[in-house]
Order: sequence, then C-alpha cells, then structure tokens
Amino acid sequence: MKIIMLGAPGAGKGTQAQRIAAKWNIPHISTGDIFRANIKNGTELGKKAKSYMDQGLLVPDELTVDLVVDRINQEDCANGYVLDGFPRTIPQAEALDEALKSLNDSLDYAINVEVPDENIINRMSGRRACLSCGATYHIVYNKTKTEGICDKCGSELVLRDDDKPETVQKRLSVYHDQTQPLIDYYTKKGIIKEVDGTLDMEAVFNAIVDILGE
Ligand code: AP5
Ligand code: MG
Ligand code: ZN
Repeated sequence: MKIIMLGAPGAGKGTQAQRIAAKWNIPHISTGDIFRANIKNGTELGKKAKSYMDQGLLVPDELTVDLVVDRINQEDCANGYVLDGFPRTIPQAEALDEALKSLNDSLDYAINVEVPDENIINRMSGRRACLSCGATYHIVYNKTKTEGICDKCGSELVLRDDDKPETVQKRLSVYHDQTQPLIDYYTKKGIIKEVDGTLDMEAVFNAIVDILGE
C-alpha cells in the first residue's frame, strides 16, 4: 500500500502516518524528519536545508526529490510506505509519478488531513518532537509518560525551531501557495481521500482505517 499524507503544517500528518506505518507494517517516510536528522548530525544537506526551514520556506526540489526516490527504492519499501510531507509541490508530485511509472507502479491513496488555519497555531506551540526517532507529542493532547522524554526511545524532546508563531504563519502561507494545489492534482487522479483533522487523534485514525480497510 502506497500512501501520501497531505495537509497543512500541524494538521497531524506525522501523528497519523506513524500509526498507519505501525498498523500496516510499512515504513513512515517524513522528509521533515530526514532533514531534521541531517541538521542534528551536521551534514551538508542539513546545513542547506536548515537555512530554508528556519524561515518557514520549502527546501528546493533539487535537494528533496532524489532523496525520496532513493528512499522508496530501498528494500523495506517493497510492500509500500506512507510518505509524510512529500510531495509538497507540483514538480515533486510529477517527479514521484515519473519514478513510480518507471517501476510500473502508482500511488494508492492521497489522504488529506483537513484542519483550518485557526486551529494550527495553538497545536504547534504545544508540540514536542523527538529528533532521534521522529515521534511527536503534545503537552495537552498527547502527553509523554515522563515530561520531556520520548516514550518510544528515551531521548530528550525539543520544541522545533520552526514552531515559533511567526514561522508557523509563514509555513501556512507557503502551504496555501505551493502545496494546496496538490489536492486538485490528486483529485483529478481519483485517489484523494479527505479526513476531518479537527477531531481527536483516535477519531482521525479511525476515519483513516475506514478508508484503507481492515
Ligand atoms: P515537516 O516536518 O513536514 O512539517 P509540516 O508539514 O510543516 O508539518 P508538521 O510536521 O509541522 O505537522 P504534522 O502535520 O506532521 O502534524 P503533527 O502530527 O506533528 O516539514 C518541515 C519543513 O521541512 C518544511 O517547512 C520545509 O522547510 C521542509 N520540508 C519538508 N518536506 C519538504 C518537501 N517535500 N519539500 C520541500 N521542503 C520540505 O501534529 C502537530 C501537533 O498537533 C502535535 O503536537 C500533535 O501531537 C498534535 N495533534 C496531532 N493531531 C491532533 C489532533 N487530532 N488533535 C489534537 N492535537 C493533535
Ligand atoms: Mg510532521
Ligand atoms: Zn524518540
């Protein structure tokens, strides 16, 4: 099963993608997590990506597309994957289609997690992220057992650098300009599925399970 997650920053793509990956036993591939891991490890890619991410801008397609295409060609992706935060531009979507076409393959579902802008800022200020394993928490809606420590891997949690309200605002406007057009793109391909992301996490996941079956 090959799935992409669409939705504004903070819509809950990562939260739901992790649960999908666990239930269907497929890799969760988040370009944001890959960039953050590179920043943490001080790689060249990380340095380049950080200069865009800190401003709430998209990392250029040249730095993003090959990375994902290489990743989905790895062995653990043979039975599918859930892509979270990619594609985010029309050229990225076209590049993904091309890459899949050359393998005689295609996407099964594009799940759009719908949350209005008003709800987003509030969610972001309470988010805590694990840069080691990619897990995401919220100080009110999704607490850890021990404050500030990842339940999954025991690492210390951080507030993401791009979760400041000004940067979130910029990310939202970039989303509306560059990423929202993908909803039309995948609607035309007939694979879009909408879920109401304002519901609680459990209800959102149940809606996704209804779509994917089982
Ligand atoms: P990325 O890491 O992908 O960030 P994003 O798209 O802005 O989305 P977020 O991760 O902020 O939100 P999410 O939808 O995953 O929500 P989450 O589950 O955490 O990208 C970061 C940056 O990297 C980009 O700005 C760009 O610079 C760069 N980048 C990445 N991919 C790129 C690409 N393809 N091309 C170019 N540049 C790229 O949930 C948010 C919070 O809400 C959490 O605290 C969570 O616990 C809570 N929450 C979740 N669901 C609910 C719910 N139902 N009810 C209440 N709270 C909830
Ligand atoms: Mg995310
Ligand atoms: Zn962790």
